[in-house]
Amino acid sequence: MGLYTNPFQKVSGVGKILGRLVIRLAFDILDLHTLKLEVMEDNERAIKLYTKLGFKEEGKLKEFVNRDGKWIDVIVMGIINPKHK
Ligand SMILES: CC(C)(COP(=O)(O)OP(=O)(O)OC[C@H]1O[C@@H](n2cnc3c(N)ncnc32)[C@H](O)[C@@H]1OP(=O)(O)O)[C@@H](O)C(=O)NCCC(=O)NCCS
Repeated sequence: MGLYTNPFQKVSGVGKILGRLVIRLAFDILDLHTLKLEVMEDNERAIKLYTKLGFKEEGKLKEFVNRDGKWIDVIVMGIINPKHK
């Protein structure tokens, strides 16, 4: 999964609301086992948000993306449905 807020509407807290909704839909309604995501290592804001939502780092894809000539690691994060533990 990945969260993308509207870049033209700078309303603080939207990411958190979206994230909680997605997790509720995935775990409480669809009863999925796990959610996984990939996030670029320099995307501090997204990593903080995903961590606050309960995602944990599960691995790293070394130099997976090239942006403007610079190789960037991509972090793999995941969360397990707490009802399945
Ligand atoms: C990543 C994204 C979804 C976050 O949504 P948001 O609405 O900006 O996030 P929120 O306002 O809900 O903030 C959530 C948390 O992020 C962190 N945060 C907020 N602003 C921050 C900043 N400028 N720098 C670092 N962390 C920040 C805080 O920990 C915050 O929690 P808190 O308010 O309890 O302290 C949004 O910025 C976005 O769409 N970015 C572009 C697309 C993208 O990169 N998506 C991720 C792809 S993997």
